[in-house]
Amino acid sequence: MLRFLTAGESHGKGLVTIIDNFPAGVKIDEDFINEKLRLRQSGYGRGARQKIETDKIEFLSGVRGGLTTGSPISFFIKNKDYENWRDRMDAFKAVPEESKIHTPRPGHADFAGSIKFGLDDIRNVLERSSARETASRVAVGAICQILLKNFGIEFASAVLSIGGVGIDSAEIPGEKKVSELNSDTFFSIDLFDETNRQNIENSELRMPHPEYEEKAKAFIDKMKAEGDTAGGLITAQTKGVPVGLGSFTQWDEKLDAHIAMSVMSVQAIKSVEIGAGVKSAYLKGSECHDSIYYEGGFYRKTDNAGGIEGGMSNGEIISVTCAMKPIPTLMKPHLDTVDLNTGEAKKAFLERSDVCAVPAASIVVESALAFSICYFFLKKFGGDGLAEIKRNYEGYVKK
Ligand SMILES: Cc1cc2nc3c(=O)[nH]c(=O)nc-3n(C[C@H](O)[C@H](O)[C@H](O)COP(=O)(O)O)c2cc1C
Repeated sequence: MLRFLTAGESHGKGLVTIIDNFPAGVKIDEDFINEKLRLRQSGYGRGARQKIETDKIEFLSGVRGGLTTGSPISFFIKNKDYENWRDRMDAFKAVPEESKIHTPRPGHADFAGSIKFGLDDIRNVLERSSARETASRVAVGAICQILLKNFGIEFASAVLSIGGVGIDSAEIPGEKKVSELNSDTFFSIDLFDETNRQNIENSELRMPHPEYEEKAKAFIDKMKAEGDTAGGLITAQTKGVPVGLGSFTQWDEKLDAHIAMSVMSVQAIKSVEIGAGVKSAYLKGSECHDSIYYEGGFYRKTDNAGGIEGGMSNGEIISVTCAMKPIPTLMKPHLDTVDLNTGEAKKAFLERSDVCAVPAASIVVESALAFSICYFFLKKFGGDGLAEIKRNYEGYVKK
């Protein structure tokens, strides 16, 4: 069973990741991984930290001569910002009382994390709950993508809207009467279409529709000026997944359920929809379900199911849409909180932070999707080495 673990603090020495049960014989493309890491650090609205660091993966084990060996893969991603935090993050130096944080930020892990672990310095929570950890997850997702590329499986992601600016399918049901909705009402986009792909690549917000770009940037600028933050809507897709990954036979074997967990576990993601998702509730059965056709192969004309039926891939594009909430650390004291030690009313503390990280989060969501697909791909075709997996795969798809 493919699995991974991550460790590391936001301002510690770096992130350590172990991937277990990854097959041997997969050619690792470091540039591909580093490019995904770069994309996770980019995007309009990021904070100053992203300028300090350019993440690079450093393999510690499991890769030799450019190929995976079948042993656990471990890798390190250095926190270049550590130099500025060495004193405060040292493993043994005493933490000065005056540097301790006692005022939890609403919307972050600070409140419950401090109470749960009995910690008297919120920094011990925020360092680990921070989205710095997503660098590890992006590298894991990239490694999964490298394996899946051998089988023609591709991934893509994009930002649909920022703070409601852009294509926001969630607004449509509110604007239209339910009786007016039909299968054409809803936004759907093919991220593998060449124009969309180019637009996403050229956009600082990773938006496929250039007409929304300037308005969305203006919204981010406004949030910045007000010391506020912005969330948005993200979509991620995968193409080329064979029929039958996941299973209907047990609740925890379902592909959609696994994807939902992977994606929801990304910091600040607050909803996960597969295909038409919430919009399915507004459609009639005859409008919602994707009729099946055959012409040398099975196909559908619509993909409201988002490529998954009964917990299994059905051969269509798998599409996930999710909402990212606005970042909880604000640059002005808008939010009320209390001192955890005294109960005294305070304003939430301010820490250098992103105004908007939706473009970065789209890369993380794509990576989370890649892990789930890889997990089920190896479950179905699994072998210890790539050649064996290829035999299993070909035996199945050719039958
Ligand atoms: C790519 C990315 C960057 C983020 N950057 C920040 C940030 O700079 N400041 C912040 O407070 N939260 C940031 N967040 C969100 C928090 O990590 C997240 O809200 C927090 O861990 C609480 O988890 P929850 O929102 O899932 O409940 C970021 C999230 C992602 C995915």
